Amino acid sequence: MNTHIRDTGRRFGALLAATPRGARQARRLAVERIAAWGLPTDGPELVVAELAANAVTHGRVPGRGFRIELALSCGVLRIEVVDTRGDRVPRFRDADGGAEGGRGLVLVEAVADRWGVDRGLPPGKTVWAEWDVPGECREP
Ligand SMILES: Nc1ncnc2c1ncn2[C@@H]1O[C@H](COP(=O)(O)OP(=O)(O)OP(=O)(O)O)[C@@H](O)[C@H]1O
Ligand SMILES: [Mg+2]
Repeated sequence: MNTHIRDTGRRFGALLAATPRGARQARRLAVERIAAWGLPTDGPELVVAELAANAVTHGRVPGRGFRIELALSCGVLRIEVVDTRGDRVPRFRDADGGAEGGRGLVLVEAVADRWGVDRGLPPGKTVWAEWDVPGECREP
């Protein structure tokens, strides 16, 4: 299995195949890790499922994988899905904007506290979502 996993406390990352199976793995790994951090998983599970599905369909470059990154830092849970298709970015349609498709990002918008797209170094882009986590900030 071409899966590379990094787990350092409250950071977690995995490089996965850009396939439906890789997308399912992203979802399962995210749920396992976020549950281990003692946080609710329902919203993040939905968001990872949608963003990973997008990465392996719209964001896929043949022969390249995609990455999922999770981080729980001072008061914020952040999920990142990084794909290698830097020339195409998510197009958000609001709920009544289109008859077909576009359901995934509408769900992300509804479920996450914030989300967005970062154009990093080419090739690639990061689609991220965040939740505020009350009481998780124990840093001075
Ligand atoms: N990772 C991505 N890379 C490139 N384009 C993307 C990516 N994610 C989304 N998009 C673009 O944004 C559009 C809207 O995404 P969204 O997830 O809302 O809908 P969808 O994937 O087309 O359909 P659904 O999620 O309902 O199956 C997509 O149709 C696609 O054109
Ligand atoms: Mg989608």
